[in-house]
Amino acid sequence: MKITVIGTGYVGLVTGACLSEMGNDVVCLDVEPEKIRLLNDGGIPIYEPGLKEVVQRNVIAGRLRFTTDTRYAAAHGTIQFIAVGTPPDEDGSADLQYVVSAAREIGRHMTDYKVVVDKSTVPVGTADKVKAAIEDELKARGVVVPFAVVSNPEFLKEGAAVEDFMRPDRIIVGAEDEQAILLMRALYAPYVRNHDRLHVMDIRSAELTKYAANAMLATRISFMNELANLAEVVGADIESVRVGIGSDSRIGYSFLYAGCGYGGSCFPKDVKALIRTARDSGTDLKVLESVEVANDAQKRVMTSKIKARFGCDLVGRHFALWGLSFKPDTDDMRDAPSRELVAELLSAGATVSAYDPVAMDEAKHVFKGVEGLSYAPNPLAACEGADALVIVTEWKEFRSPDFDGIKARLREPIVFDGRNIFDPELVRSRGLEYVGIGRR
Ligand code: UDX
Repeated sequence: MKITVIGTGYVGLVTGACLSEMGNDVVCLDVEPEKIRLLNDGGIPIYEPGLKEVVQRNVIAGRLRFTTDTRYAAAHGTIQFIAVGTPPDEDGSADLQYVVSAAREIGRHMTDYKVVVDKSTVPVGTADKVKAAIEDELKARGVVVPFAVVSNPEFLKEGAAVEDFMRPDRIIVGAEDEQAILLMRALYAPYVRNHDRLHVMDIRSAELTKYAANAMLATRISFMNELANLAEVVGADIESVRVGIGSDSRIGYSFLYAGCGYGGSCFPKDVKALIRTARDSGTDLKVLESVEVANDAQKRVMTSKIKARFGCDLVGRHFALWGLSFKPDTDDMRDAPSRELVAELLSAGATVSAYDPVAMDEAKHVFKGVEGLSYAPNPLAACEGADALVIVTEWKEFRSPDFDGIKARLREPIVFDGRNIFDPELVRSRGLEYVGIGRR
């Protein structure tokens, strides 16, 4: 099938690459010439396990091409995926200008039937705006060309995006046009093998499904984070509670890990946008509003624990920080808890030496010009002369560290474990003080 993907950001690139992997003829469009050059040479602008190999393989096979030529891209795909960014506006609502201008480009150049698919995370009602933008352009050209708009939200997890695309839990298709539904079914058939996992529904339900899924997961996390804070006060252990409730099949084990708050490109943005959508429609999402408040507070929990131990004035204190990305297996630092932590430690007068397996380049960009923050070549080097070690990302390589080496390098042998990756007893038995989230 001929496919065009507009936007080679995280979602667009994974979508384009994984569609070409199944033999589709894919053209990806982006406005940044340098990015396009890099991609056509087989390089990729983001870190995502397995993605580079898929891109390279399919570029060499001629099934995956990258271009800045809008006319060519709009003419190419029968299915046109819109996968451009939807950054939050100041009021938290998703900014749709890139989605609408992508729709306009399609309308400006299309000459035959197109299925236009919203892949970006967009608020309920966006499909209507996309449809109107295309109709506008067709009218301006004085032509009638048939097309359908489909909502097909992505559920990719960073760090596992290729796997999630190739073996999805479910595919949501919001569509009303019969021909478009048939094409979407045919496109995704190789990924789901049976159609039970492809759910066709009306467009608005599909649009809301995406937000509902992320909001539900964020809710579970905030709920567990609040329980963890309670557990500390009443002398319970959140990890035991997690196992205790997760074993109930109605609850399940996923997304019950307490920590120093959720981050990333999706949860914070989507929670905000859904709250905004609700407010604009005259509805209050009280639970979700609290989820956001709780998460903002949770991002400050590590600093509070550090200040409880060292005092509010951290002048002259130095901390080792393990982890900068918002979660393992990605270099993404959008809304990462590390950002707030670093800012708070520095503003309290401390200095920080950070290490992350892949996000250091990104951090240098994010924290450009920030004084008091340095980068260590490895985890132990970060601990050299630090007052304590703080962990905010649960990278695998942090899970079985050289505790003796850590202890020897720290001025005060304390580990602040913001992701509960260690057994407190084990750490204490190695002669270090342990502070986790909701741990006994
Ligand atoms: C999420 C959704 O999972 C995905 O389906 C959607 O398409 C995009 O948003 P992602 O942001 O890549 O994916 O990461 P995810 O693994 O969901 O983690 C989000 C955040 O929640 C991370 O900061 C993580 O550390 C945190 N988290 C996750 C917890 O604090 N506790 C948990 O139990 C799980």
